[in-house]
Amino acid sequence: IDEGHGVKGLSDLKINTLPELFIQPLEKRFDMSKVLSEELIPIIDMSNSEDPEVMKLICDAAENHGFFQVVNHGIPLSMMEDVKDSAHKFFGLSVEEKTKYLFKDGTTKNVEYLRSFTPEVDKVLDWKDHLGCAYVSDDEAIEFWPHVCRYQLLEYMNKSESLIKRLLSVLIKRLGIPKLDKTNQQLFMGLRRITLNYYPICPQPELATGVGSHSDFSTITVLLQDEVGGLYVRKFETDNWIHVPPIKGSLTVNVGDALQIMSNGRYKSVEHRVVANGHNDRISVPIFVNPSLSEVIGPLPQVIKRGEKALYKQVLYSDYVNHFFSKAYNGKDAIDFAK
Ligand code: SIN
Ligand code: FE2
Repeated sequence: IDEGHGVKGLSDLKINTLPELFIQPLEKRFDMSKVLSEELIPIIDMSNSEDPEVMKLICDAAENHGFFQVVNHGIPLSMMEDVKDSAHKFFGLSVEEKTKYLFKDGTTKNVEYLRSFTPEVDKVLDWKDHLGCAYVSDDEAIEFWPHVCRYQLLEYMNKSESLIKRLLSVLIKRLGIPKLDKTNQQLFMGLRRITLNYYPICPQPELATGVGSHSDFSTITVLLQDEVGGLYVRKFETDNWIHVPPIKGSLTVNVGDALQIMSNGRYKSVEHRVVANGHNDRISVPIFVNPSLSEVIGPLPQVIKRGEKALYKQVLYSDYVNHFFSKAYNGKDAIDFAK
């Protein structure tokens, strides 16, 4: 695989058989009979997120499902459309252009274009390309993010900040932390990244993964997906999966490992996966809301004070992230690092 061309380059060749590098072992392929087609993750109307009823829905969803969708969240539909369009523009760039953003070249600060999460260590690769952009400042984004998408992504990143703060404020309140403020913002949302995922049309999709089962290492993730669908979430503590249907204008929110650890297991970082698709390409754009790399994460004192036993130890967040990337990802294995 030519890295600049990416998986899209292979897809564009219109080959009929899936190259060996992408053929998943049986146990990693998705068994569609495990899908609970009648079930949905909660859909929460955020028009009035100060309403105690709404706050309860958010916290309950984070506890019981780890995943929910939000509507009326304050981000204009046109802005979300622009983000998706600009993502298509990025992946449609020439090989020469995209090659500039390859991780190993490192010429573009805090921006990386690559294949699977961990292409160095995965034996089999996911059928996707992605571009990750860490947000440091507006100036840096404008300087280093790809020209075809920088303003769209930045505008969306900035606009989403108040939604992210509303969600985090509600979630931490239930943990006994009265508010999100300057003293705890680094811990809960000090590092934000926006990623463009592109899942090209796949020959033999049943043999491949769009993304294999994993949990996120974020505090929370806020995901924008297009109308194609294919994201499945594990139903907590079962071997069943629930589809996250695309709903126009909605965003999907999920709890990541960092929040599971900080809440001492109260909020659940649930596994999810994306199937490969033989007919349509698909775009998704997660914003990963993370602790700053220099923060130490562990069960919060406010949680432990209530007499709970700590299920996790204190770990430097950068060590957690490095651990995640040091091995082939596999379900929720990474969280054992904090046990
Ligand atoms: C991911 O969780 O890595 C991607 C989710 C998606 O594309 O819907
Ligand atoms: Fe994910």
